[in-house]
Amino acid sequence: RGERAAVQDLAGRHVVISAGGTREPLDPVRFLGNRSSGKQGYALARTAVARGARVTLLSANAALPDPAGVDVVHVGTAVELREAVIRAATGADVVVMAAAVADFRPETYATGKIKKKDGHEPEPIFLVRNPDILAEISADRSRPGQVVVGFAAETDDVLANGRKKLARKGCDLLVVNEVGERKTFGSEENEAVLLGADGSETPVPYGPKEVLSDTIWDVVARLVSAGDT
Ligand code: CTP
Ligand code: CA
Repeated sequence: RGERAAVQDLAGRHVVISAGGTREPLDPVRFLGNRSSGKQGYALARTAVARGARVTLLSANAALPDPAGVDVVHVGTAVELREAVIRAATGADVVVMAAAVADFRPETYATGKIKKKDGHEPEPIFLVRNPDILAEISADRSRPGQVVVGFAAETDDVLANGRKKLARKGCDLLVVNEVGERKTFGSEENEAVLLGADGSETPVPYGPKEVLSDTIWDVVARLVSAGDT
């Protein structure tokens, strides 16, 4: 990557990246969460800095050290992440939603720890929908020419599902991973296809998350400069 780090094609650009996974609290000691490690989002942050970008990283529960030269904002829930994304995206050139956002949150939060009661079945947990941050940012576009990127982990008909999701979200690029047993979650490596709203399709072979990150920035840098003209 030594050679590639010299490419300053994101110089002067402000890039906002969400990473990790949101946690939705049930009570003071419990939450609904997911397995996202944050490694892909952090790799995106490091590689964007290397290419000259000013980077804001919105980190949801990633147990990773703050990357050097990055403005890091720590958040917990999807609602907190939404607020942080909307604030940071104002005037940003690029927004990348690499975080795994909980689709649902518990309808109520118990301010005291939920306890077992002898002779009683557990209480059901009711869920409500969380806001769709990527769809909202894609519809907003706080800055003309702002490039918005989403991620999707899919099984079965991965590309067809990805195309549908790209259209539904309204983003410019969707990074589609196929999930399987050892793939994606917590691993150092990743394999993906980048689907562009312009119909483009860029396969990225199984390899380090930095390589996938740099391929994403290659595509994004072209889209950003196309938006300049
Ligand atoms: N996303 C988001 N807000 C949500 C859910 C997802 O911003 N409430 C973003 C994720 O960060 C990711 C993209 O949307 O970039 C796709 O997430 P995914 O879970 O695959 O999409 P969903 O619309 O939730 O579809 P599914 O029902 O397949 O989970
Ligand atoms: Ca989802």
